[in-house]
Amino acid sequence: MPETSPKTKGAEKEHPMGDPRYKGIDRVLKRQQYQQDALIEVLTAAQEAFGYLTEESMIYIARQLKLPFSWIYGVATFYHFFSLKPQGEHSCIVCLGTACYVGKAADIIASVEEAYKVKAGSTTDDGKLTLIATRCLGCCGLAPVVVLDQVVHGKETPQGAVAKVREVVAGGNGA
Ligand code: FES
Repeated sequence: MPETSPKTKGAEKEHPMGDPRYKGIDRVLKRQQYQQDALIEVLTAAQEAFGYLTEESMIYIARQLKLPFSWIYGVATFYHFFSLKPQGEHSCIVCLGTACYVGKAADIIASVEEAYKVKAGSTTDDGKLTLIATRCLGCCGLAPVVVLDQVVHGKETPQGAVAKVREVVAGGNGA
């Protein structure tokens, strides 16, 4: 099967947090040399990776930047463009980084947009699904990558992605 979960991926080196999406956060942390004043950019990378700022990701960032969690939380709640909870009941995050783009990730977005009458960056009228396009999630070996409700699916196709979204929205796990 082409899909994989963050816990089971073997081909790529696992992230210590057990989820390959943390690699995207790590890349920004390294690029910014772990400077505390890069917090907004790091939080932005986390939101793009997870669809919203999970508590776990904020704790991770606090540790990496050696800042108190209360500071991270304060910044995350101050700026309206950060969200601390998923916007729709389900989230479909499609990576549009270079490797995924070359792998036709734009077609995946177009297919989900068409199937659910929703534009990337927004939520369906019934609040069931939020579709998000994001930058590189740090697991390019799996390109094109789609993350459905926290589960990473690699080597995805437009038809496969729509089928999995349908299953997730219908209450399955998309596997
Ligand atoms: S380009 Fe999609 S995971 Fe890197």
